[in-house]
Amino acid sequence: MDDLLLKALASEHGTPLYVYDGDMIRQRYNTFKNAFETRYSPVKVSYAMKANSSLAVLKIFSSLGAGVDVVSGGELEVALKAGFSAKDILFTSNSKSPWEHELAVRKGAVINVDSVHEIQSLSKVAASLGKKAKVSFRVNPSVNPQTHPKIATGLKNAKFGVPIEDGVALEAYRQAKADSNLKVVGLHTHIGSQILETDSFRDAATRIMDFALQLKKELKIKLKFIDLGGGLGISYKGETNIIGPDDLAAAVVPVVEEGVKKLGYRPELWLEPGRWFVGPSGELIARVNSLKKTPDKKYANVNAGFNVLIRPAMYDSFHRVRVLGKLGEEETYDIAGNICESGDILAKDRKLPQIQEDDIICLMDAGAYGFAMASNYNSWPLPAEVLVEAGKGRLIRQRGTTKDLLRNQIA
Ligand code: LLP
Repeated sequence: MDDLLLKALASEHGTPLYVYDGDMIRQRYNTFKNAFETRYSPVKVSYAMKANSSLAVLKIFSSLGAGVDVVSGGELEVALKAGFSAKDILFTSNSKSPWEHELAVRKGAVINVDSVHEIQSLSKVAASLGKKAKVSFRVNPSVNPQTHPKIATGLKNAKFGVPIEDGVALEAYRQAKADSNLKVVGLHTHIGSQILETDSFRDAATRIMDFALQLKKELKIKLKFIDLGGGLGISYKGETNIIGPDDLAAAVVPVVEEGVKKLGYRPELWLEPGRWFVGPSGELIARVNSLKKTPDKKYANVNAGFNVLIRPAMYDSFHRVRVLGKLGEEETYDIAGNICESGDILAKDRKLPQIQEDDIICLMDAGAYGFAMASNYNSWPLPAEVLVEAGKGRLIRQRGTTKDLLRNQIA
């Protein structure tokens, strides 16, 4: 987004501030959907709302007709508030509480079961409500995506999914099919996040299609949908030669088509990215409070920390930095957050135009897993959020206050 606009929004709404480009979100959703729809039919592209669950952002997706992947009872309720209908909600979580099962069954969302054990607890809840639960299984295809270990989920011993290996997933489907409280509708996998190569997606698709065939042959199960998850990475360093939705679709759709031929029926193909839609569409704006020199370093201390953007501290991730409206001679800086921990460095060793107090800096590609992972650590209220559409910014979340920090506390 334009530096002038971001600076104006910073002075109007204060900092730290998240700003999202709504037009870019729309455009990215359509680009992704188009890459698959031109190669397969029917396709349903959902949004993994954990990436950014702010209501105004969700409403963009619901207005585009997207489905939504939710990971908690809270996300399920927020998704309904944002206008998604229950039939378009897939509830994926490795650990669901009875109240979450109840909510999902009552509303009629599809429940993505994550273990053989969960079948019984879900079945009990469905029976008590006198309703049939719509289920898919998240299966673990045992694929190793090239990504940060904290966000690789398809590994053999990951906590996610029912392993295809040793017939565990087949047994899960056998039990679910035999259970009169459950209706089997789908098959799901998600192998990890920020993946920038197609081989692991292709491997996972191959294993999923083979497994769908096994379900048909051995259990006579016909699936309404096959969901290949999310995980497509974005360019955090400004690289231009990375894979995009077209490469992903070109890699997996032929595998799906090949599988469909053997299946003899055509399930819907579902996808559910999060980061790819919203990551590049969001920027975090912060003010420089002070500067400091140590024997070997220059720090620019800003008024945001890992409570506002945890990705650098948690995954050593890289976000590009701009000093808004500034060009000229460069120096090397660390951008230090205002959290009382040495690990709170938002950006390391960056060549930037000479920084002064009161400059406004921007951390780029912060639209995914930015605000969504923010906390009140060090008693910082949550930042405000603005959505820009057709060049105009609109406040979509007020800045938190001290009152918010004290709410619900009993002393
Ligand atoms: N579907 C499922 C079941 C998932 O667990 C996830 C992400 C997604 C879809 C969306 O993945 P995406 O398209 O956004 O890669 N906080 C981390 C990322 C955690 C991802 C968790 N699951 C980060 O900031 O990098």
